[in-house]
Amino acid sequence: KRCNLAVENFAEIDLLTFINLPVCLPNLKRRTIFTKDIERYVLEHFIFSLKTNKKIIFPTGNTPLEMYKMLKQQNDIPNHSVFQLDEYLKSTEYQEYLKNNLPSNFRFHFIDAFAEDIEKECIRHDALCQNIDLTILGIGKNGHIAFNEPHTTTLMSPTRVVSLEKKTVEDNDTKFTKAITLGIQTILRSKQIVLMAKRNKREIVEKVISGSVVVPAKY
Ligand code: GLP
Repeated sequence: KRCNLAVENFAEIDLLTFINLPVCLPNLKRRTIFTKDIERYVLEHFIFSLKTNKKIIFPTGNTPLEMYKMLKQQNDIPNHSVFQLDEYLKSTEYQEYLKNNLPSNFRFHFIDAFAEDIEKECIRHDALCQNIDLTILGIGKNGHIAFNEPHTTTLMSPTRVVSLEKKTVEDNDTKFTKAITLGIQTILRSKQIVLMAKRNKREIVEKVISGSVVVPAKY
């Protein structure tokens, strides 16, 4: 389908991938969209088309920053509930990011990364994220999604505490080595998922689309 902003390409999925992805079956309508204006494309096609009071997951990172700026400048943004995707263990860095960069009329549901019983906190937050209307994601250079790292993630990974890979700690320039992440299993239950990536992620995105690597973004 051609539109003013982008050309959409439909990817074929091979049989092996297909039979390995049973939990994704309802979500197999995958589209790859190349556009010079990713911010406006995602805003217009996914965010502005939501009616009021929807449940949304927004990622942190540099990739969506410009889009958040445009979203904040918009008048009359409907009220939505925002659910946190991930957080460093014993930190509020990502919650602060979301509060600072997203419209203030949104209702925020954060992960308590200081909770005494962190496993209980994962279950509590996970339960709130079961019927999300729209999830926007970024991607790590190693193919991670949220903090689902390649070496410790499967399709069925739950919401949990994870150890970050060395590459992630370096790329994110952080002192933290552990984090809480929404699991792949829960992310895949979202009614719509958009993975945004810019030119700096070209290498990993090409590998994921061609199927030459098995990393969490592939799911
Ligand atoms: C972090 C976050 C991810 C995010 C990624 C990409 O690792 N945990 O959720 O997608 O960074 O960030 P950037 O957009 O800055 O490359």
